[in-house]
Amino acid sequence: MNWDDTTDSHASERLVGASADREDQAVEAALRPKDLGEFIGQEKVREQLDLVLRAARARGATADHVLLSGAPGLGKTTLSMIIAAEMGAPIRITSGPAIQHAGDLAAILSSLQEGEVLFLDEIHRMSRPAEEMLYMAMEDFRVDVIVGKGPGATAIPLDLPPFTLVGATTRAGLLPPPLRDRFGFTAHMEFYEPAELERVVHRSAHLLDVEVDTDGAAEIAGRSRGTPRIANRLLRRVRDYAQVKADGVITREIAAAALAVYEVDARGLDRLDRAVLQALLKLFGGGPVGLSTLAVAVGEERETVEEVAEPFLVREGLLARTPRGRVATPAAWAHLGLTPPRPASAGNGQQDLFGA
Ligand SMILES: Nc1ncnc2c1ncn2[C@@H]1O[C@H](COP(=O)(O)OP(=O)(O)O)[C@@H](O)[C@H]1O
Ligand SMILES: [Mg+2]
Repeated sequence: MNWDDTTDSHASERLVGASADREDQAVEAALRPKDLGEFIGQEKVREQLDLVLRAARARGATADHVLLSGAPGLGKTTLSMIIAAEMGAPIRITSGPAIQHAGDLAAILSSLQEGEVLFLDEIHRMSRPAEEMLYMAMEDFRVDVIVGKGPGATAIPLDLPPFTLVGATTRAGLLPPPLRDRFGFTAHMEFYEPAELERVVHRSAHLLDVEVDTDGAAEIAGRSRGTPRIANRLLRRVRDYAQVKADGVITREIAAAALAVYEVDARGLDRLDRAVLQALLKLFGGGPVGLSTLAVAVGEERETVEEVAEPFLVREGLLARTPRGRVATPAAWAHLGLTPPRPASAGNGQQDLFGA
């Protein structure tokens, strides 16, 4: 991976990036759990969704609209397909950015079959007029189709068959409350525990016909940033290494050696993440330092540091964003094996922040 040859595609091209790259898209279909029983982790979401779907089936009704929120790669698209499968319903897949005009949405809605699942990915990125059309469609299974332009335009009401909208968003907070309120069930997906990711690795290895032992799976899981998509991607890279450099079996040693080649460390940080931490610690004594200064020090765009590297560092408790700038935590010093400098003077407020 070369940080210098691209500008805004870092997020999708890095090995530990959570959004789907082209290779992911090609293999993900094969790795997707097909029903709720196969879906690993997210116990609460699974239990609640199971009740929602069972009840709808028992009533012979269409399931309530479902909103899935959570970071990329946690299983939103997978769950939408599972909802359709569990309901024995067909699924139509589209996304907010694909719906530019209300007319685009009207065309999709009016062609739905009874009971069909409409999966609207990135629902927070839909246009305003489309969003307003969706309100009525969700609530009354009706749309007003506007015919003509200007003062002569008329709204022709059109009845829709009952359908289930499954909306997915990485940012539930960005949804206008009227839209959020129209979902009967909202599921917030959390990052996965290492033990759950281990199960994801074992399951995927089985489907890909790769042999991985318990420690090997744990090693991959620990570097997967709580995200099944990343676990599956790291597994494929480790498999390549195991085939070329060893007998194909993934052990802890093989996994660690393979991921060292790809510069993904024991905690799932990659080269950019570590460069940011190293600059913060070695050049700025742990901060506080402004974002722009930090970005210049690692030779990256401000946005890349802020949007690509920082969220995970913050989540891992390695870096904090404070009003005075970026600050390293004691865990950051420990992770890079460095010793924090002694506070310049006793009672320094900045140091007190982390009880150092
Ligand atoms: N709970 C899970 N159990 C097993 N595999 C999962 C799970 N969640 C996600 N995955 C796998 O991770 C990949 C990404 O999931 P996806 O549903 O596309 O995420 P999202 O739509 O939230 O970005 C898929 O290959 C899927 O098989
Ligand atoms: Mg998705």
